[in-house]
Amino acid sequence: MASNIINEYKESACDVLRAVFPQAMQWRFLIPALGICASVFAQSSTVDSYVSTESPIAKAGVLANIGANGVKSSGAYSGVVIASPSTTNPNYLYTWVRDSSLVFKTLIDQYTSGQDTTLHSLVDDFVSAEANIQQVINPSGTVSTGGLGEPKFYINETAFTGSWGRPQRDGPALRSIAMITYANWLIANNNESYVADSLWPTIKLDLDYVMNNWNETTFDLWEEVDSSSFFTSAVQHRALRQGSALATATGQTSVVSGYNAQAEDILCFLQSFWSPSPGFMTANTGGGRSGKDSNTVLTSIHTFDVNAGCDATTFQPCSDIALSNLKVYVDSFREIYDINTGIPASEAVATGRYPEDVYQGGNPWYLTTFAVAEQLYDALIVWNNEGSLTVTDVSFPFFQQFEQNITLGTYSSSTSTYSTLTTAIKDFADGFVAVAAKYTPSDGGLAEQYSRTNGTPVSAVDLTWSYASALTVFNARAGKAPASWGAASLTVSSACSTSEAATVPVVFNVNVTTTLGQNIYLTGSVGALTDWSTTDAILMSSADYPIWSTAVTLLANTDVQYKYIIVDNGDITWESDPNNEFTTPTSGITTRNDVWR
Ligand code: NOJ
Ligand code: NOJ
Repeated sequence: MASNIINEYKESACDVLRAVFPQAMQWRFLIPALGICASVFAQSSTVDSYVSTESPIAKAGVLANIGANGVKSSGAYSGVVIASPSTTNPNYLYTWVRDSSLVFKTLIDQYTSGQDTTLHSLVDDFVSAEANIQQVINPSGTVSTGGLGEPKFYINETAFTGSWGRPQRDGPALRSIAMITYANWLIANNNESYVADSLWPTIKLDLDYVMNNWNETTFDLWEEVDSSSFFTSAVQHRALRQGSALATATGQTSVVSGYNAQAEDILCFLQSFWSPSPGFMTANTGGGRSGKDSNTVLTSIHTFDVNAGCDATTFQPCSDIALSNLKVYVDSFREIYDINTGIPASEAVATGRYPEDVYQGGNPWYLTTFAVAEQLYDALIVWNNEGSLTVTDVSFPFFQQFEQNITLGTYSSSTSTYSTLTTAIKDFADGFVAVAAKYTPSDGGLAEQYSRTNGTPVSAVDLTWSYASALTVFNARAGKAPASWGAASLTVSSACSTSEAATVPVVFNVNVTTTLGQNIYLTGSVGALTDWSTTDAILMSSADYPIWSTAVTLLANTDVQYKYIIVDNGDITWESDPNNEFTTPTSGITTRNDVWR
C-alpha cells in the first residue's frame, strides 16, 4: 500500500513537472534532483524527436511510391501505389489493393482534416486508377464474377496471372472505406455531383461485392491462411455500415436494407473470434496456429471510431477485450526475438505479424510495432474525452502491468489512479515507437521488417505501408483521430447468440530471490497457462522484486495446476513437487501469494 501511494505521488509529480517544464533542456537540470520520472521523460523526448525527423521522411516515402510522378515508382500509372520499389527478394513492384487503400485512407484523412490541403488531385488520381483496376479481368474473375477479390496487379494496371493466395476479400472493403471518407467530405463541401458521378459507381461495386461474398472464405491479409479472418470481416462490417449511411445521404436508398442486413450478420460473426482464456481474438478460423496475430491489433486501429467510446462489440481500441488482446499479442513476442531479450515483462518490445511467422526470416515489422502504439494512443484519446477509464475483469491483466494493486472499477480523470495508469500507458505506447525508432536506419528509410537478431532492416525497402503506418501512429500520438464511421451505439442483434465462457482474473505472486540473468516464468495445466510449456511459459514481472508477478485470465470455476520455473540462459529449474493447485472462483479477482520451493 505504501509503495502504491509513493508510485502515485511520483507519477503525479512527474505530470506536474512535465506541464511546467515542457522543454528538454530545462529537464536536464531537474533530473538529477528528481530522478523519479527521468526515464519516462527521457523516452518521451526521444520519441518527440523521432516523430519530428521521421514525419517528413515518411510522408515523402509515401509520395515517392505513387505514380505517375513518384520518384521511386517510375512506370506506375497515375494514382497507382507501388508496395515497394524492391524488385528482387521480394519483388514488390506491384500494386496491392489492400496496401493502396490503407495508404490512401491515410492521405484522404490528411486531406479532409485540413492537415495537407495539397493532396486533392492525387486523391482523384487514386479514385480513377482504382476504377480502372476494378474492370481488369484477372484470375479471380471479371468485375461481376469475383474479380474484385484479386489482391494485386501490375503497376500499369494489368492483371498478374501467376499463382497467388486469392481471393483476398479485405481489398474491396478497404478501398470503399477510403473512398467513402473522401465522399463524405465532398458532400460536406457541396460537391455531391462529383460523388454521384465519379465515386458512387466505384464504391457501389465494392460494397455489393462485400455484401454478396463476405461469408465466403478468403486469404487473410498476410496472404497465407484461407479461411475466415477477423481483420477482413471487421473491415467488411465497417464498409457496409459506412456505405449504407452514404447511400442514405445521397438518396441511393435501394441498397440500404441489403447492406444493413449483411452488416448485422457480420457484427454477429465477429463476436465468435473471441477466445476467453487467456483473452484474445483468434485471427483466423483456419491456419493451425496460436491465432495470436497483429491482424487483430490492425483491426482495432482501422475500425477505431472516436465517438464509439470503449465499445467491445466493435472492438474499439480502449475496449476491455481489445486491451486484453493487445497484451496477449505483445507477450507472444517477448521470448522469440533475440532483440527482445532482457526487456522486463511489462515494457515495450518488438512485435511482428504473428509469432509463428517465417516469411523473409519471420522478423518484427515496423507497421505492426507502430500499430500497438497506435491502439494505445487511440485509447488515451477516448479516455481523455470521456474523463474516465474502466478496469474490468477482462482488462485487468492489461492494467495490472502498470499498477500491481489495481482493483476493478471506473476511475475518473480526477483520481490519482487514472493519472498513474494513463501516464504509464502513454509511456508504454511511446516504448513501441522507441523500439521502431531504435531500429530505423539513419536515413529514416522504413523497410517491411527489421531483424529479430540485430534490428537491421530486412525484406522490401521503402515499404509504402510502413511509411503510412508511421504517419497514422504519429497523428494518434498527437491526439488526432480520423473521422467517425458510425460505430457508436451499434448492438449485436438479439438473434445472434454470443454466449461466452465466464472468466476470472488471477494474480500470481511468487517470492523468489534470483541472481542476475535469471527470470521467473509461470506455466500450468490449462491453455491460458500454456499447457505446461517451458518455451511459451509466461514471463513474470520483477517490478516488486523479490515478488515476481503476473495476471492471467482463466476460465471460471475450473481446477488449475501450476508451477513457477527459473530460466537462466535457457536452463530451466522447476519448483519442487507437488504442483500448486486451486479451483478458480465463479467471479472476482483471485490472488495467489506463493513462495518458491
Ligand atoms: C508472399 C506474401 O506476400 C507473404 O505475406 C507471405 O508470407 C509469403 N508469400 C509466403 O506465403
Ligand atoms: C506481404 C504482406 O503480407 C501483405 O499484407 C502485403 O499486402 C504485401 N506484402 C505487399 O506489401
